[in-house]
Amino acid sequence: MKNNWRQKLHLEPMNGWLNDPNGLCFFGGYYHVYFQYAPESPLGDGAKCWGHWQSSDLLKWTFTGTVLRPDIPEDRDGVYSGCGFPDGDVLRLFYTGNVKEEGDYDYITSGRGANVITVSTENGHDMSSKRVLLRNEDYPEFCSCHVRDPKVWKESDEKYLMVLGARTLRDEGCVIVFRSEDLENWEFDSLHGIPDFGYMWECPDYFTVGGKAFLSISPQGIPHEKYKFQNVYSSGYFKAGKELKDYTEWDCGFDFYAPQTFETPDGRRLLIGWMGIGDIPYTNPTTELGWQHCLTVPRELTVKADGSLRQAPVRELEKLRRDSLQLVSGMTAEFPFELCAETTSRFTLDMGGYLVLSYADGEFTMSFTDDEVGCGRGVRKALLFACTDIRILADTSSLEVYLSDGEKVLSSRFYPADTSVKLTFSGLSGTLYELDGMEMIYDE
Ligand code: FRU
Repeated sequence: MKNNWRQKLHLEPMNGWLNDPNGLCFFGGYYHVYFQYAPESPLGDGAKCWGHWQSSDLLKWTFTGTVLRPDIPEDRDGVYSGCGFPDGDVLRLFYTGNVKEEGDYDYITSGRGANVITVSTENGHDMSSKRVLLRNEDYPEFCSCHVRDPKVWKESDEKYLMVLGARTLRDEGCVIVFRSEDLENWEFDSLHGIPDFGYMWECPDYFTVGGKAFLSISPQGIPHEKYKFQNVYSSGYFKAGKELKDYTEWDCGFDFYAPQTFETPDGRRLLIGWMGIGDIPYTNPTTELGWQHCLTVPRELTVKADGSLRQAPVRELEKLRRDSLQLVSGMTAEFPFELCAETTSRFTLDMGGYLVLSYADGEFTMSFTDDEVGCGRGVRKALLFACTDIRILADTSSLEVYLSDGEKVLSSRFYPADTSVKLTFSGLSGTLYELDGMEMIYDE
């Protein structure tokens, strides 16, 4: 059957452009997923707003529409990224109001306003009036105009912290932290960074898993390497203690950026990323159909004894499993499906003659062999000392590949012509699950 690329497992807008996940939280009995949304254009032109989905079970999602738009002078050029902070009966949202002055500016050291703005909501979609909390003059003097993407958390009784991504006047990426006793009045607290690690850090997130602290960032300006930083911009996490240590990329695929985490009521830490990146050299042909980009599925984070994180598709998705089939090379699978296999020391999986996933000698490779399907995507690599298993979530136009219990993950968009694919492989044994799609209601 002809594939219309409309996805079954991944949140994406009906129309327009999506980028970063924003305001992720559980509040009032629902999971809330806000996102950077340009409803007027699949290319991201026009007003940058927040769209909103909610779900009680992470499987049935309702899109409630565009819930925050630029409508005050302090956010007139975009309601940029930010976070959600459940506070009793209200959900407080914090975001960056973007302002671009008209004139002859470089928009790095002048001409740009980046205001921290807050609103609150009792139901997730009806918003209170906006209040500006911080303006450029409130940031430390070493900052350029690029300061954005607040993430707020409760550090202790009566002490709240907010981390913001920043670019210094010397073109160094870093995060700055503000503190508050009441979520209203904020004072500069501290600066955190490491030398020579890009010119701008976007979308920071500070969180703990199993009692260990992490700082996630999306840095820009890091030179490409064979196995690292293969995309135009990176995103990954540091172990966060006195110093920031051991930066590890979240995802080695073609399409992943600006993730954010949140906690479930039963204490799991979930991460959702944008399955896309700005300024990419490849394309997404859904633009001709009126929309572009999606989010990753929620991923559960767990921590190992050495302090490194593992990612796995959130366990609720297992409820979508329908029939299970033993893997046989040459079988045909219908999207969406999940493939779970144990692997030998080397394996190769050819999907439809357009994509090859292979592992040998410590190197995993994802390689598009048909540009009609890859749309400019070529090869991505990941180093893995041993690859014990592979788990693939294959949607109609995206793939998430989890290796060795989620030690490495590779995400990519792809655009096959058919809704089914022939799987030809060696070195894999396991199960193919045909999946039901998530239920998605568009209730604008
Ligand atoms: C990351 C980002 C954020 C910004 C938002 C604007 O993709 O550039 O830093 O807030 O997108 O849409």
